[in-house]
Amino acid sequence: MTILDGKKISNDIKNEIAEEVRKMKERGEKVPHLAAVLVGDDGASLTYVGSKVKSCERVGFESTLVRMPATTSEEELLQKIKELNHNDDIDGFIVQLPLPRQIDEQKVLMAVDPTKDVDGFHPENFGKMALDMEAFIPATPFGILELLERYHVETKGKHTVIIGRSHIVGRPMSILMSRKGYPGNSTVTLTHSSTQNIAEITKQADIVISALGVPEFLKADMVKDGVVVIDVGITRVSDESNPKGYVIKGDVDFVGVGKKASFITPVPGGVGPMTIAMLLKNTLLAREQRKS
Ligand code: GUN
Repeated sequence: MTILDGKKISNDIKNEIAEEVRKMKERGEKVPHLAAVLVGDDGASLTYVGSKVKSCERVGFESTLVRMPATTSEEELLQKIKELNHNDDIDGFIVQLPLPRQIDEQKVLMAVDPTKDVDGFHPENFGKMALDMEAFIPATPFGILELLERYHVETKGKHTVIIGRSHIVGRPMSILMSRKGYPGNSTVTLTHSSTQNIAEITKQADIVISALGVPEFLKADMVKDGVVVIDVGITRVSDESNPKGYVIKGDVDFVGVGKKASFITPVPGGVGPMTIAMLLKNTLLAREQRKS
């Protein structure tokens, strides 16, 4: 069994990006600038956005964190997005999800300039991705592709079973794994909350990608020998013995499933760090596209 070490690979990618930034500086060029908008003060979102900003510093990007109160109106957020769209210094930006209930997420995602949409959530980017055109690919699915590629995991002709149809992970992942090329060329089954007999389906999988958010949902008796397992789950489970008061749990029973798997991602240290690395990669691409 090989552990797909997202921490290591994401570090490699960050080093590669840092080297690109170094060359940009040497040529006297502007370095990439990522902005992140955080509405409200949800603990998990604060942590994620904080990591994104810190990672920008690490690779030499400029970064801007825009914090808005939980009471922000939709109009105020749309105005902020307009500003970021028109700010020539910003190469790419993200609006951290979820948003407070008074704000329509779809309206917000539609308002982002697709050329600055480094999350790849705008319908223009999503559509282009589905049609094999050049586009920003959402960071988590992009990170999963990169992990599969860097570990030379075979995907052609394999049966990939995805658990969860979220707009951020499951749905785009189902498109990407079925696309021509590598990684891809898989036969894809997208399972979700209305799927019946899910274990019968996961048992037929050569590759399982779980983005469900139910701790230790995938057990050893639900997979076959040699399966490749990608665990996208990051659920906070309260744990008084931990100084933070919680531990992070994935969707997969790592000990049990790990005994049968050929490749498996750990949680933490698997998909999570890859997401940030690929957001940086998208921001670098955004900078390069704006230059030309
Ligand atoms: N919330 C959970 N994952 C993501 C992500 O990849 N991007 C944004 N903007 N919000 C998220």
